[in-house]
Amino acid sequence: MKAIERIKTGITELDQITGGIPKGRSTILIGGPGTGKTIFALQAAVTSAREGLNVTYLCVEESPEDIRHQAAVLGWNLKTYEEKGILRMVDMVAPRAMNTLERKRAGSSQRKMDLFTIFNKMDDDTDLVVVDSIGCFIDPDIQIFRDQFDLILYQLRKKNVTSIIIMDASTSSEMKDIGMFLAYSAIRMEKKENTFRGRRERIMDIVKMRSTDIPLQPVQYEITDRGIVII
Ligand SMILES: Nc1ncnc2c1ncn2[C@@H]1O[C@H](COP(=O)(O)OP(=O)(O)O)[C@@H](O)[C@H]1O
Ligand SMILES: [Mg+2]
Repeated sequence: MKAIERIKTGITELDQITGGIPKGRSTILIGGPGTGKTIFALQAAVTSAREGLNVTYLCVEESPEDIRHQAAVLGWNLKTYEEKGILRMVDMVAPRAMNTLERKRAGSSQRKMDLFTIFNKMDDDTDLVVVDSIGCFIDPDIQIFRDQFDLILYQLRKKNVTSIIIMDASTSSEMKDIGMFLAYSAIRMEKKENTFRGRRERIMDIVKMRSTDIPLQPVQYEITDRGIVII
């Protein structure tokens, strides 16, 4: 059987351990605020763009402007890829606010944006899509979320699109971690107390990655001025 192709994340040690995230499959990234989910996704997006892959970055939580700024701090100039048309930063913050406003005005007659709304903004020639993050589009009904997410993963798979889907830890636990079960790969990022050393550490757990030999132990990482580094 042919081995699954991989996409590099640009996190060198992670790429060495796993070979990269499985191409044409979904990777869900779960973590609390400030754990580095956006930086992880940016690092992967820039790495793919450098290799000439078409990347769509769906900005749901932070505006493209803020994301570009965070990237610039880490030495990544997104504009160069955007100008070449390799990277597309899609603003979902403004449409989301407009939707809320319209719903406030029109009452319940205006439909709330859902998971499908996000992925409709993705161009067909996309190789890698990042959703940062899907939290606000999740239906509170777990059954509905499961069905929608399942269908979206199926559609992405059929189009052979690789996806990095960010979900905050609180939403994930509200949804009983179903996202992790449905996705092809799941990575959890955490800040943990190391009582032995008496300080906090950043821990990345590759919870699962189908068709990949992964370490059982979580790895420790740092956020540096050049992005995420595993130590
Ligand atoms: N240049 C940097 N050097 C070290 N740490 C940084 C740097 N830039 C950002 N960080 C850290 O990364 C965190 C934010 O990462 P981010 O990816 O936005 O988190 P998340 O998306 O999970 O909320 C900040 O709280 C900060 O601690
Ligand atoms: Mg973020």
